[in-house]
Amino acid sequence: MQRLYCASVLLISLASGQANALDPQVSAPGKHFEQREGENLFKAICQGCHMAQGQGAQGAGAYPALANNPRLSADAYPVFMVAQGQGGMPAFKGLLDDEQIAAVVTYIRTHNGNAFNEPVNMATVKALTGR
Ligand code: HEC
Repeated sequence: MQRLYCASVLLISLASGQANALDPQVSAPGKHFEQREGENLFKAICQGCHMAQGQGAQGAGAYPALANNPRLSADAYPVFMVAQGQGGMPAFKGLLDDEQIAAVVTYIRTHNGNAFNEPVNMATVKALTGR
């Protein structure tokens, strides 16, 4: 239930485009998430759907596992997913700057059974956020 609650709160705040009164992290206009480190961004945003060890979940929707996921081997795919979203995966390019996107993608590519250690290419991030 906790996961579903967090996911719904996040979706509501994303859908409304307004600061969520329950979450001081998103209350500053134009600076929606203050975390800079990948792990902190993951905990604040991603684990609500993908779970703490990136194991994914089945519930109101299907949240794919990020753990042990060969689809993270090239940086462009996870950067695309985080920046632009797809299906039930929200787009985060309006909430995260390019460095935050690179940081959280680096985190998921190097944790929970993934060892894709090449740094995320900032040119790829900029191409996919259009910045
Ligand atoms: C509101 C729930 C939600 C949140 C929050 C969320 N995701 Fe997702 N994510 C999804 C869903 C649902 C999918 C499957 C989308 C599809 O393919 O239709 C997905 C797919 C993905 C995929 C593709 C996985 C694959 O095997 O194809 C990646 C990578 C990903 N998410 C990373 C992240 C990261 C990093 C964050 C945090 C910045 C995040 N997600 C936050 C719901 C979420």
